[in-house]
Formats: sequence, C-alpha cells, structure tokens
Amino acid sequence: MIVAEFARDQWYVAAFSHEVGRRQLGRTILDEPVLLYRTEDGQAVAMADRCVHRRFPLSESPSHLVGDKVVCGYHGFTYGPDGVCVAVPAQQRVPRTARLRTYPVVEQDSFVWVWIGDREPGGTLPPRAPWLAQSGYTTVCGMEPLNARYGLLVDNLLDLSHETYLHGGYIGTPEVAETPITTEVDEEAGVVYVSRHMADAACPPFYAESTGIKGRITRWQDIEYHPPCLYLLHSRVAPVGSPLPAADGTDPHAFHVEVVYAITPSTGNTTYDFWAVARDFALDDEKVSDFLRESNRTVVLQDVTALNTLEQVLAREPDRYQELSVNIDTGGLAARRLLAKMAGTPRTEPAVR
Ligand code: FES
Ligand SMILES: [Fe+2]
Repeated sequence: MIVAEFARDQWYVAAFSHEVGRRQLGRTILDEPVLLYRTEDGQAVAMADRCVHRRFPLSESPSHLVGDKVVCGYHGFTYGPDGVCVAVPAQQRVPRTARLRTYPVVEQDSFVWVWIGDREPGGTLPPRAPWLAQSGYTTVCGMEPLNARYGLLVDNLLDLSHETYLHGGYIGTPEVAETPITTEVDEEAGVVYVSRHMADAACPPFYAESTGIKGRITRWQDIEYHPPCLYLLHSRVAPVGSPLPAADGTDPHAFHVEVVYAITPSTGNTTYDFWAVARDFALDDEKVSDFLRESNRTVVLQDVTALNTLEQVLAREPDRYQELSVNIDTGGLAARRLLAKMAGTPRTEPAVR
C-alpha cells in the first residue's frame, strides 16, 4: 500500500527563495491553500490563501500587495503580514475574528519552508541541504508539478535501479540495476540511507558531458532521505583507478554532485517535485549549467510521466492489491514505514522476497 496519508506538524518546502517576492504566490500544501510573499524588508511570510469574508484567494488577481499588506481583490478586506485584518469596506470596526491563519516560515539553503500543522514547531528545524547556497558549488534547479500522490515519488527516488530503464541515455547504465544496495535506517533521527557503490561502470552522458571524463568510472550513490520532505543524493564520480576519499573526508580526485529533491504533498493525488543539482566542478561554466539543467529536467519529467501513469492505475484499483517487493525496495519500504508513523497510521510493510 503506497502512503497517501499526510504527516502533519512537519516542515515542508513551499517554494524556492527566488520564487517568493513582491508578487503573491499561491501554493496548496497538504490540502491547505497557502499564500506566500515577501515584505518590503525581505521577510517571507505565509498565511492562509482564502479571504475570511467570502473565501476569495489572496494570491489571485485582482488581490494585490500594498506595502506589507495584502488587499483582497473581491471586496477589499486588507490583512497585515501577521494575518490580522486591518480594514473592511464601509465600516470602521474590524471584527475581532477577522484574521488569517499564518504559518511559521524558515528560509534556509535557498528554500522557503513552512510548518503545516496545529502544533508549534518549537525548536524543530528543517533538515539541511547546504550545497544549494554555499560557495564552492554551482546549482541549477526547478520544480515540476506531479499528478500523483507523493508516496510514489518517495518510492521512485529511493530505488535508483529504475535509472537503467526509465533514464537510459541520461543517467542510467546497466551497472545501476545490477549493483546491490545497502539500506540503513536511523530510527531515532528518522533518516533512511540507501547506498550503491559501483567500482567500474559506464559513464552516462549526464556525467560524461558535464565532467569531461572519457572512460569508465567509479560511481557512488549515497541517498539520505529525511521524511517527509527532503531527499539528498550524494553522487560521487571518478575515473576508475582514482584514489579514494582521504581519511579527513577530502576527495580531490572525484567530481561531486549533490542532487536534492523536496517532495511536498499538495493534495491527495498531486505533489510538488522541487529538484536541484549542485556541483563542485566547472563552477563558472554556463554551458555545463545549461546542460545539467536541461538533462535533469528531462530526467525529472521522465519520472513525472511514469508516476502520473501509475497514479491513474492506482486510483482505479481496489485498496487491498498486494504488491510484490524485492531487495531494491528495502529503502522505499523503510521510508513508507517512517512516513506512516509520522502520519499517525503505523503499519507493518511486508518483507522483501
Ligand atoms: S472575499 Fe475578500 S473581501 Fe470579500
Ligand atoms: Fe528517476
């Protein structure tokens, strides 16, 4: 059974920082319509995207910003960044209950995170993806909307053996599907680790063209999934025979690509698929940036197409359908278990065969 319930009281990526500005942006997160904008002094704010009066969306024109306030485009109710209504038409008194729910916001690593839930986040902070806004790395990024439940994207990203089949000619080569994975779960921290280390593999075009490597490569894929929202793929590529990373963690003989996905459930069967690719080589080479942006977007869209198809299949099938799971699904099953626990609907996933 693919996870469809939402884990509330969690941080979710609502947008890239560059998407939030002096224009209102509307996003639906966990079925909640959220309005995002930036105040004049640069603070990102998030509040309910429905006017308390007749529910008109504040992200929709002719709603607009005046200074730090947002004016509803239907009858003019006006709200401050704290969600409190400060003006209603044709009367002096503003009803005390005229306020919009606001959401805690953290801006970090080029993402705007919002806290969706009823509890306060307290000291809880979103997980980190530091490469996205760090010197020594160049990042390309984008977001593709997905017409599928978010659990399908979690499954997809935790099993990279599909690269060989779905992404052949881009990132997939036979070695990916042929090499066994190791999976570890840190129950306390709530992190799933999936690794696949290929000692001698063909170099797929994605890496051959961006790094300039001509021959075969050592290729490492180390995944860290921080449910519910953040997925990190540490990708290490080096010509076969290159020295391994040094004991102090430095690794000057390899190329490193940090692939980051934020998986944000929008509704029960739609998802925001935020992606970013950060690299530590060819930092100022625009051609490499353009190539990686285009290639990764193509790869993401290959997944989107497949998962949109899968969603339609799942939507039509009875609840009790029994999937068959094998070794490559170990990470995905662990992720489902953690997600179900976070959503408050714990269950046991069947063993792999
Ligand atoms: S719906 Fe917003 S002011 Fe009437
Ligand atoms: Fe994929």
